[in-house]
Amino acid sequence: MKFDFATPVARRHPEKGDWPSQKWHRYDADILPLWVADMDFRSPPALIEAMQARVEHGVFGYGRIPDSLKHTLCAWSEREYAWALEPEWQLWLPGVVPALHLASLALTEPGEGVLTVTPIYPPFLKVAERTGRLPQQAQLAEPADPGEPWRLDLAALEAAITPETRLLLWCHPHNPTGRVWRHEELAGLAALIERHDLLVVSDELHCDLLLDDGAVHRPLAAAFPSLAARTVTLWAPSKTFNIAGLSAACAVISDPELRQRFADRLSGLMPDVNVLGLVAAEVAYAQGNPWRLELLEVLRGHRRTLIERVAAWPGVAFAPPESTYLAWFDLRRAEGLAGRGGSPQQVLLEEAGVALSDGADFGWPGFVRLNFGTTAAQLDEALTRLDDVLKG
Ligand SMILES: Cc1ncc(COP(=O)(O)O)c(C=O)c1O
Repeated sequence: MKFDFATPVARRHPEKGDWPSQKWHRYDADILPLWVADMDFRSPPALIEAMQARVEHGVFGYGRIPDSLKHTLCAWSEREYAWALEPEWQLWLPGVVPALHLASLALTEPGEGVLTVTPIYPPFLKVAERTGRLPQQAQLAEPADPGEPWRLDLAALEAAITPETRLLLWCHPHNPTGRVWRHEELAGLAALIERHDLLVVSDELHCDLLLDDGAVHRPLAAAFPSLAARTVTLWAPSKTFNIAGLSAACAVISDPELRQRFADRLSGLMPDVNVLGLVAAEVAYAQGNPWRLELLEVLRGHRRTLIERVAAWPGVAFAPPESTYLAWFDLRRAEGLAGRGGSPQQVLLEEAGVALSDGADFGWPGFVRLNFGTTAAQLDEALTRLDDVLKG
């Protein structure tokens, strides 16, 4: 291994100079945090060096999106996803969650329906309400047997659509299940989108982190050209290169009219992407790939560890994620939790000292999400603590 994914990075002690972070400072010092989706790894060395050089420049006035960044993302898209996107399709902005809200404001009218499928990354569930639109939801089909994948339930999605429905918020690959949607599944979805004349936001933030050898990511707008004119694709280097705190994301919109509507909403409401984030994003896409490929090997190893260790937790169901560093556990029948009050997340926080994300926030109480983007040693420590409760 050329890069270091094993040495712990101090993130806990601001008094010793560690920088405060959401992940490490939400809970007490004896809690191991495996919740919010950032990783405990330093970013690629090339990225850190480029940031240092930018800091050395010493002037941090208003920035401009460099053409070189746009061309770099085009090259990444072409190489990784065989999608020949144009530089002018890109609208860079400070985050994917803001982009979800902007899309709702820009592409729908007050009272129109914004639909999503659960379980889902929690901010998706707030977009409609926060933007004065009608919240609409359908459920994914949960695995019939432990270990089976979550599936798209087209009939349930169709049933949730009403004449008000205008926009679908789609997550591809999917947080929290880690599903990498297959072409056949997406073909059904594409037909439904067209049949009901919907617009779609495809949040593809996790697409660079595929763990299954056979898994292939095709951007929704590229896989189904007939959808391109009705799709906003959201990408960012933030999850892949662990730079979420640098706030740089990109809405890719090929249709000029849709893009203009989005851009009109963007201006004034959103600050520009900060100048350090722009440097980081460009270097990440231009030079970060060798680091990413090693990261994927580390995450695959962690996933193997999870599969082995979770097998010893009776009643816990878990479909190994095909992508990203998030694992989604069904604890509704966990024998180790039988007879205990409180949500599984709360019990595991209090009794195991491990902070996970509560499934209720994703629309599915009884589930938890575990972030395994951490060192092997810390993952082992967390699983050992969880063993105490979940081994029954
Ligand atoms: C699917 C998905 N979308 C958006 C975000 C957040 O993106 P941002 O920090 O750019 O707002 C996350 C973070 O975990 C995510 O998993």
